Amino acid sequence: MLLPSNHPLYSLLFLFFLHNLPPYTAARPAPEFPWKQLTETTVNNYHHYFYNRFLNSRRGSHVSGLSEIKRYFHHFGYLTFEAHYNISDDIFDAPLESAILHYQSKLGLQVTGKLDFDTLTQVLSPRCGVPDKQPSPTLHATKNYVFFPGKPRWARRIPMTLTYGFSPDNMIRSLSLSDIKEAFKLAFSTWASVIPVNFVEADDYGFADIKIGFYSGDHGDGEPFDGVLGILAHSFSPESGKFHLDAAETWAVDFEVEKSSVAVDLESVAVHEIGHLLGLSHSPVKGAVMYPSLKPREKKVELSVDDIQGVQSLYGSNPNFTFSSLLESDISANRAADLRFESSLWAISMILAASFL
Ligand SMILES: *[C@@H]1O[C@H](CO)[C@@H](O)[C@H](O)[C@H]1NC(C)=O
Ligand SMILES: *[C@@H]1O[C@H](CO)[C@@H](O)[C@H](O)[C@H]1NC(C)=O
Ligand SMILES: [Zn+2]
Ligand SMILES: [Zn+2]
Repeated sequence: MLLPSNHPLYSLLFLFFLHNLPPYTAARPAPEFPWKQLTETTVNNYHHYFYNRFLNSRRGSHVSGLSEIKRYFHHFGYLTFEAHYNISDDIFDAPLESAILHYQSKLGLQVTGKLDFDTLTQVLSPRCGVPDKQPSPTLHATKNYVFFPGKPRWARRIPMTLTYGFSPDNMIRSLSLSDIKEAFKLAFSTWASVIPVNFVEADDYGFADIKIGFYSGDHGDGEPFDGVLGILAHSFSPESGKFHLDAAETWAVDFEVEKSSVAVDLESVAVHEIGHLLGLSHSPVKGAVMYPSLKPREKKVELSVDDIQGVQSLYGSNPNFTFSSLLESDISANRAADLRFESSLWAISMILAASFL
């Protein structure tokens, strides 16, 4: 079903402050991380390495290290190949080109088939570990939200109540339990306000429908976490209820308090992962909470029209919800988000230009 993945980098602070990726702390040998060689390099070097080496490579190019990029695309479900295919070679071949075309269209990037700047930047962005599944071929042109294969949802009578619990043995100490619970409570209520589904914290973790915990490295589901940034969390489609967060992240509930440049907003990640738990897959809409990546220190907790239409087509609408009020605020929020996106790209370009001098 769903897996984790990779890499860091986005905002400018990032480029300078992200130094060491923490070691794996798995009790038993972790499955090899597919692009491990790249993540092991310090991020400053890594960043230079990455852009210098791969920028504008295209079909026919032979670039040392390209096999790592192939593993990345393979991991997220973009690079599919026949049994005889050798993923370890560094040739930019037709399957890689088609993987990149697919990735670019799935993530709302310009579709060039090349490893251009925006594509490399997206590959470097921290993200959800769930692979980006291809939308069904009959997807309506105006809809962007995507479901998991078979369109699974919680098959209970509507209105329904789902319970959630926190694994007592898999919590983090950098935040208080009450702060953690509050972030999740807000995230669940965000979804509950648009669909006839109510979420309540279970008294007994063992019986909760949704089981939440923080894990490091390999934690037994074949989807190891990778340390700071890269993969932030993953969760599973209905009715699994498993919700795992990477314990190595600097989780934050308030950026005024948590000043780290690699801090990740807990509520934003919770809102995204709850979308998966309800049956939504990744959306190509950059403003949607179901878009797969999230920058460090970014807060994205409001559902977009795309998220709402997606989840309501699974569960119907909450009778208390009206679209008209939301549309207004959504449109202005999207405009603001586009502006922010442009200015951060601009800043990155500036820094890149400076660092190459
Ligand atoms: C795959 O490619 C790598 C790198 O070029 C090479 O070392 C390896 O022998 C190849 N494997 C096969 C099965 O051809
Ligand atoms: C709608 O709002 C009423 C009044 O606040 C509340 O009692 C009811 O539970 C809400 N319905 C749903 C499905 O959330
Ligand atoms: Zn996701
Ligand atoms: Zn897991």
